[in-house]
Amino acid sequence: MTGPHSSTHAPRSPNRPAVLVARAVFPETIERLRRHFEVEDNPADHIFDKATLAAHLAGKAGAFTTGSERIDADVLAENPQLRVVANMAVGYNNIDVPACTARGVLATNTPDVLTETTADFGFALMMAAARRMAESERFLRRGEWTRWAYDMFTGSDVHGATLGILGMGRIGQAIARRGALGFGMRVVYHNRSRLAPEVEASLRARYLDKATLLREADHLVLVLPYSAQSHHAIGAAELALMKPTATLTNVARGGIVDDAALAAALRGKRIAAAALDVFEGEPQVHPDLLAVPNVVLTPHIASATVRTRRAMADLAADNLIAALTGERPPTPVNPEVLAAGGVLPPR
Ligand code: GLV
Repeated sequence: MTGPHSSTHAPRSPNRPAVLVARAVFPETIERLRRHFEVEDNPADHIFDKATLAAHLAGKAGAFTTGSERIDADVLAENPQLRVVANMAVGYNNIDVPACTARGVLATNTPDVLTETTADFGFALMMAAARRMAESERFLRRGEWTRWAYDMFTGSDVHGATLGILGMGRIGQAIARRGALGFGMRVVYHNRSRLAPEVEASLRARYLDKATLLREADHLVLVLPYSAQSHHAIGAAELALMKPTATLTNVARGGIVDDAALAAALRGKRIAAAALDVFEGEPQVHPDLLAVPNVVLTPHIASATVRTRRAMADLAADNLIAALTGERPPTPVNPEVLAAGGVLPPR
């Protein structure tokens, strides 16, 4: 089929907006963006430092970013022509949203499409910690398994236990559903705002203050956004409130947990085990965490299924295309900067 609307290669025009795709992404996503924009991509997948990122953004109206690109006030100041930052992640703590809003720059994220996938992984990590899967697998691989023993790698049950959720947004609720409906868990949670009674009832979830949540949970899962307020929300004082048999799982963001304090709590058996997909300063991992056996460590892959990563890339592209072609982007973070027909022109 040929014709003006079926071509995958729209004619190049100097009037088409320029965008930067800051990390390697699906070739199909790049192809799609090229139908609308002059695209600078990064197939070698270099990680840009701040100055390099700002330089690559020169002349770009849009940026397709991931959590590894920090869009801060300086980067924005160097690029006053930038109109949209489309983040391929639900979290957007890599973007200074107030600074974007002040400059009329739209930020978008990728909620919803990763909720169930991330909840699956959070639940799997929690189970792995409770049942000591990584620790026992390492033991087997080391050739140390020579006989059965009544107390070999005894952990704690997940079914029927108390599931504590800190941060009860979409992903927290999806984890609560798995626990309550699939595993007969008693679900307790703490969140900035309490859920509506009918939502609590559907999840069979009970609201607690944070300290009581920490005391009551057999398995605590963190699913809250990272911010100055949630920095080190779990440190030595909070870990001290937890049961010695409890587990802690973090699928939210590094920095919510004080990793050094957690490693000390794991080493001292202050809590039984932990499972972490995110780390302070990742991809660096605190050496003390690498040295303790009772922690499962994964490299920030909670949303990493092929289908979900495609959906995230598609949604980030939808946002970028809509915002720069006068449509309403599906998932804006700061919709107050939207004009009736897309993003406002540069101030
Ligand atoms: C991943 O961490 C995300 O925020 O999507």
